[in-house]
Amino acid sequence: MKHLILLSFLAVVISPALASAGEDGGKILRAQCASCHDLKGPAPQTIRELWKRDAPDLFYAGNKFRREWLVQWLQKPIRIRPAGVNYLRNINSTPPSNQNTKKTGRKYDVLWGSVTKPLKHVKLSRAKAEAVADALMGLKPHYSLVAGVKLDASKKVSLDQGEVLIDKVYGCLSCHFIEPGYGGYTGSELYTAGKRLQPEFMLSYIKRPKNWDPKIWMPNGNVKPDDLQKIVNYLILLSKEDFNASN
Ligand code: HEC
Ligand code: HEC
Repeated sequence: MKHLILLSFLAVVISPALASAGEDGGKILRAQCASCHDLKGPAPQTIRELWKRDAPDLFYAGNKFRREWLVQWLQKPIRIRPAGVNYLRNINSTPPSNQNTKKTGRKYDVLWGSVTKPLKHVKLSRAKAEAVADALMGLKPHYSLVAGVKLDASKKVSLDQGEVLIDKVYGCLSCHFIEPGYGGYTGSELYTAGKRLQPEFMLSYIKRPKNWDPKIWMPNGNVKPDDLQKIVNYLILLSKEDFNASN
């Protein structure tokens, strides 16, 4: 009996470690992901290269993502960028005179096309997702961009105070959702950022996005150091809200 208890105890302890046994994450990445995602870098260096990008760069995944999120998302991928990776392809910039504005009620930058449809993305089994997450977490070429960067959890803000920073003070809301369907379409949804991204990545990226992605249209926003800490604490707090419709 004692042995049985010990055995079942060991099974519980060891099974997560074995969850990805037999799967080669690096091989899956090369075979099933490299056709769309850049696994080698560098990020696009010209506007022309930027507009050719159809899927987010993954070559610095280990500097960016939280492993737990990767494992979940790879099993059940849902949309992160409401207008797709390349918003220009999904925004209708036809002048208002040529548009049925009565119907849309809006004049410029009307979303159309397939962006509101659910994301079609390869889905992985739990074992494959674990193995791929391990391989992705090993990709850390941008270590120097996060070295010495640290979240100061004492710079707390309420949801209301954070929203004022994101909306009124720094205008991040013009490009990012902070609730499903609320905010601008051209960036990634920020209400899940705290779950998806490492705090150090957020601090470094928000300070100088162009260090990570030289041609990205997110501006280097001159966010004050204190506000930077507050914004990232806010994003972590925000991601704990239950939005249900986060897909
Ligand atoms: C047909 C092209 C295509 C293939 C193949 C593909 N992806 Fe993707 N992937 C995308 C697109 C497009 C997105 C962006 C989704 C969004 O932002 O809504 C994405 C998003 C992601 C993200 C989130 C990245 C971020 O920065 O937010 C991860 C992680 C990811 N894919 C991993 C993988 C892995 C692992 C594989 C292989 C098993 C894979 N993808 C295969 C097109 C692809
Ligand atoms: C002009 C539009 C624009 C503005 C303004 C803007 N961003 Fe962004 N932001 C983007 C784009 C585009 C990306 C890259 C998304 C991607 O990886 O495809 C991005 C990426 C990010 C990321 C990384 C997100 C991820 O999912 O990988 C964070 C965090 C972020 N922005 C926060 C902010 C904050 C905070 C502000 C205000 C201080 C801000 N942004 C202002 C467009 C913008």
